[in-house]
Amino acid sequence: MLNTTQQQWVNDVIARLTAKMELVSERSRDKIPYTTLNGVHDDRATVNPSGDDADGICWWTNGFWGGMLWLMYHETGQEKYKEIAQISEAKLDRCFEEYYGLHHDVGFMWLPTSVANYRITGNPESRKRALHAANLLAGRFNVAGSFIRAWNDLPEGDTRGWAIIDCMLNIPLLYWATEETGDPRYMQIAMKHADTSMTAFVRPDGSINHIVEFDPFLGGVVRTHGGQGYGEGSSWARGQTWALYGFIMSYIHTGKDEYLHTAKRVAHYYMASIPDDGIIPVDFRQPEEPALTDDTAAAIAACGLIEIAKAVGGHESRLYISAALKLLERLDQSRIDWSPDTDHFLLYGTGAYHSKTHHHAIIYGDYYFMEAIFKLKGSDLYLW
Ligand code: GLY
Repeated sequence: MLNTTQQQWVNDVIARLTAKMELVSERSRDKIPYTTLNGVHDDRATVNPSGDDADGICWWTNGFWGGMLWLMYHETGQEKYKEIAQISEAKLDRCFEEYYGLHHDVGFMWLPTSVANYRITGNPESRKRALHAANLLAGRFNVAGSFIRAWNDLPEGDTRGWAIIDCMLNIPLLYWATEETGDPRYMQIAMKHADTSMTAFVRPDGSINHIVEFDPFLGGVVRTHGGQGYGEGSSWARGQTWALYGFIMSYIHTGKDEYLHTAKRVAHYYMASIPDDGIIPVDFRQPEEPALTDDTAAAIAACGLIEIAKAVGGHESRLYISAALKLLERLDQSRIDWSPDTDHFLLYGTGAYHSKTHHHAIIYGDYYFMEAIFKLKGSDLYLW
């Protein structure tokens, strides 16, 4: 897949990742980080410790730290990574008791933690946790509209009919549950949701709606919302990547050709939208100023592009590999903090266009950068 120079670069990045993770893993051993403050990881497990707040222990990104540790365990074989991953996985048990803070993002939370643990070690407790999470996700399916409901009640209004493109990354938990138990219901729900997403979220030009609102009683699209992007009809870059990577994941689990074609269509739109400087904006249709960027959307896209390359194979794969390499090399050039004294890697992530803060460390940026680099090396560990 890579020439000698590219392979050398990948090995060099892995050496730097490994050296830094050796220190960060010890410093953040008992945390579940989301971001950093002055270079130090925060800890979502200690936010609102006695509440069911979705911003605390049930925060949707709480699986990525565990995922980074499993990637490191697979790469190095060092027991300490397994131990620390298991510490964070056990902390997530509190979410099952809290319950109200959980929503569609249980895939993001339990695929890189419990499913990873079960796949790697066969731990029966992890299997149980992951199946529990899969059942919560399946229970969110709306039969009338054929979609998995996003979030719970929000101050924004009645969200019973809301579905979001991000959920394409959660449904692999359902594919896994069917593969693991032999019960087809989980996969049936996942494919229904993916089919709805193909028609309702992917626009003719390959760009993506972030939120689609359905009539929760009758089905049918009511309207779309801009969500975490600039506005309605815009093109939130991370949303493009959730579609790009999500549809290729659905193809990997089901072999359904339409999912591969859709992943490619979204990928072509994404590649054509990359600015000349290679830095990904928060939204491909945002105003020129302020020049808000989101590097997490580069790392996630790279993962999806590599998987598309593997799926298409041969000469065609070069287009996708070359785009993934350019994105990752651009990050490495000037957008990553390799200092041993800080806990983050990617510096310029953005949660949403209209967030109060932009350009900060976000754990899934680090996770997907690491995953992409290990994919380029040829790692056989697939956590999704
Ligand atoms: N809700 C997933 C994201 O912020 O990308």
